[in-house]
Amino acid sequence: DWTMASYKDEAIRKIREQVGDRKVICGLSGGVDSSVAAVLIHEAIGDQLTCVFVDHGLLRLNEADEVVAMFRDNYNIPLIHADEADLFLGALEGVSDPEVKRKTIGRLFIDVFQKYAGEIDGAEFLAQGTLYPDVIESVSFSGGPSVTIKSHHNVGGLPEKMGLKLVEPLRELFKDEVRALGRELGLPDKFIGRHPFPGPGLAIRCPGEITRDKLEILRKADAVFIDQIRKHNLYDEIWQAFVAILPVRTVGVMGDGRTYDYACALRAVTSVDGMTADYYPFTHEFLGETATRIINEVKGINRCTYDITSKPPGTIEWE
Ligand code: XMP
Repeated sequence: DWTMASYKDEAIRKIREQVGDRKVICGLSGGVDSSVAAVLIHEAIGDQLTCVFVDHGLLRLNEADEVVAMFRDNYNIPLIHADEADLFLGALEGVSDPEVKRKTIGRLFIDVFQKYAGEIDGAEFLAQGTLYPDVIESVSFSGGPSVTIKSHHNVGGLPEKMGLKLVEPLRELFKDEVRALGRELGLPDKFIGRHPFPGPGLAIRCPGEITRDKLEILRKADAVFIDQIRKHNLYDEIWQAFVAILPVRTVGVMGDGRTYDYACALRAVTSVDGMTADYYPFTHEFLGETATRIINEVKGINRCTYDITSKPPGTIEWE
């Protein structure tokens, strides 16, 4: 589409103008936004860009391997794979307040970036895939008074502390426009179609205290849910779908035995830009089949609920 083609050319021109011959590091989360930002910047300035993929131990099943493989197979972008799970999970031990989680993760991202930026001689810029809704949601909500609903960990504060200047080529775009730009840049369809995934990752899908056990269970349940959605050909109709593991265990019965395991909530919404959302109207048959699969296939979960809250008054994520 010619509008995106010219947007792309203009964005590339601006990046070159801002960066000149200096170096940029880009935090790659594996999500669509940071990937499109990285590919766009790479097209603008080539190997002056180095990507840092931070594995904070809060990614989905096999996600780190998939992201790294996708960038190594499809692009020649210099990529550092930072396995920092111990650092993040250690700092999150005993933390249950959502804002403390978000701020802890945000702060550690700064530390990790400082560490890797220090290894890249003379990096002066930090690239982020910040979108327009991220910018406005962290300032105000629904045109009302200025209230922070959630601290988005990819907005604000980060670059000053690092002594880096920001490059945010997607700051004026909505999600559907980022996807169009990604297509324009030749990113694989399967990748562009991926549901959004928040920077703080599974931390905000694990209300209450985060433990490695819970994360393990959550990853498996989430993978079953997404598998169900793909099998029923619903993935592209849904804006975002995931499982949250609840901080409560409930009594169940399996075979002749009593179980006492975690309950989980399925969440799936439709949305245009993430600012408002409706829960997805699955059939009862789909929901029943999915609950049965999760409880049979995932040790540690014995109860499954479906979240039917729209946004507002709910938010998409649980924290
Ligand atoms: P909420 O939960 O606020 O989410 O309705 C709206 C959209 O934003 C995503 N989200 C985030 N994305 N950093 C991100 O990059 C964050 O800290 C963050 N928090 C929420 C969420 O997944 C949904 O798509």
